[in-house]
Amino acid sequence: MTVEVTEIRYVVDPGGRITGNTRVPGDKSISHRAVILGAIAEGNTRVSNLLEGTDVLATVAAFRKMSVQIEGPESGEMLIRGVGLHGLSVPSEALDLGNSGTAMRLMTGLLAGQCFDSRLTGDRSLSRRPMRRVIDPLTLMGASIESTAQGTPPLKVRSVDRLSGIRYVLPVASAQVKSALLLAGLYSAGETCIEEPRPTRDHTERMLAGFQYPCERTDSTVCLTGGGLLRGTEIDVPADLSSAAFFIVAATIAATSRLRLHSVGINPTRTGVIEILRSMGASIETENEHEICGEPIADIVVRSAPLRGVKVPADLVPLSIDEFPILCIAAACAAGTTTIRGASELRHKESDRISSMVAGLRGLGIDTEEFDDGMSIRGGDFDGGVVNSFGDHRVAMAFCVAGLRARSPVEIRDCGNVVTSFPGFIRTASSCGLRINERR
Ligand code: S3P
Repeated sequence: MTVEVTEIRYVVDPGGRITGNTRVPGDKSISHRAVILGAIAEGNTRVSNLLEGTDVLATVAAFRKMSVQIEGPESGEMLIRGVGLHGLSVPSEALDLGNSGTAMRLMTGLLAGQCFDSRLTGDRSLSRRPMRRVIDPLTLMGASIESTAQGTPPLKVRSVDRLSGIRYVLPVASAQVKSALLLAGLYSAGETCIEEPRPTRDHTERMLAGFQYPCERTDSTVCLTGGGLLRGTEIDVPADLSSAAFFIVAATIAATSRLRLHSVGINPTRTGVIEILRSMGASIETENEHEICGEPIADIVVRSAPLRGVKVPADLVPLSIDEFPILCIAAACAAGTTTIRGASELRHKESDRISSMVAGLRGLGIDTEEFDDGMSIRGGDFDGGVVNSFGDHRVAMAFCVAGLRARSPVEIRDCGNVVTSFPGFIRTASSCGLRINERR
């Protein structure tokens, strides 16, 4: 049963500098994939620095319900006793994936290939999110999946004889859809090839290589052949650039700040936010660049800098898709206007992030125009006031950062879902100089 979160509010006092050294929690996308691939690998997989956010814990719980033995996670350490591609057992109840679109879409792909039926549910936000983008291509592969009439969860996945590989051009640039189809492809006869209209995060492809599963990438297409096996491995999860982004912007917009963020994933399919902020004038340096488990990592050093408005290039949108809430705050602190177009995918996230951000920015006195596929934001000064996060973790954290530069305190409502991606956010934020109080 999904338990809706009790109302938690954050109150941010303006002012302060952002300083020090910190490490934000593990990458959410990589953590989900570590759990999923570890569960269906042969032998043990040891994970360190796993994100213990409730989204990833929902994926862990789903595999426990399918009899996978998992020790931990404790302080980010987890041991998964992989059961092999065909070792999952039928869950006795629905798999509740909480708030997590990634878990829902990736698990749908994985479960489509099992020889048992399953049901997938989620919270109120997840139950509104579009699933036809995975159901349609999986159906073309031979899967049998039922959703509501609107194409939303709950989903029923029925066992079928065997899936067939597919060549599929993604209509929307989505790493979740690509990954769902690759997971189904592991269980399919023949080859599965996915072509993407624009590059999206490639953690699944990189991690499959780490589990010694052949996966070929050429330009915009990724292919694998079903019926192989994954070998258990060790995975050290980098710190999540999407979580680091709140502090990158905080240190940029707060005067006399200097912050070092340790061991952050800088996979080029994720670094759109750094490129956009640099084009706005931000001072962001990477140091100590190296690779861990096939993923590039660096320490990120940020100093305060004045920002200017930009037109965000369309090709950077999928590479910074989760960072738009915090980019909107940077835009509001910039001289001139920032325009974001070609970003209608933002309407299908944990909330409709275009309308959530427009409402919050306007509520704090920022001149904002809303488009179907984006918005334009004229830089100005934040008033204090009350902002609704609409239960969206990234909207909540973005407005905490806005509070730094407000004229009076900013209260953010409905912050209970911050724990989906950033457990300990207030602690980390306070240690860097943000002044946030939690109220219940
Ligand atoms: C994710 C992909 C992105 C992103 C989400 C995580 C993933 O979604 O917004 O937070 O882990 O594959 P889309 O692929 O739907 O754009």
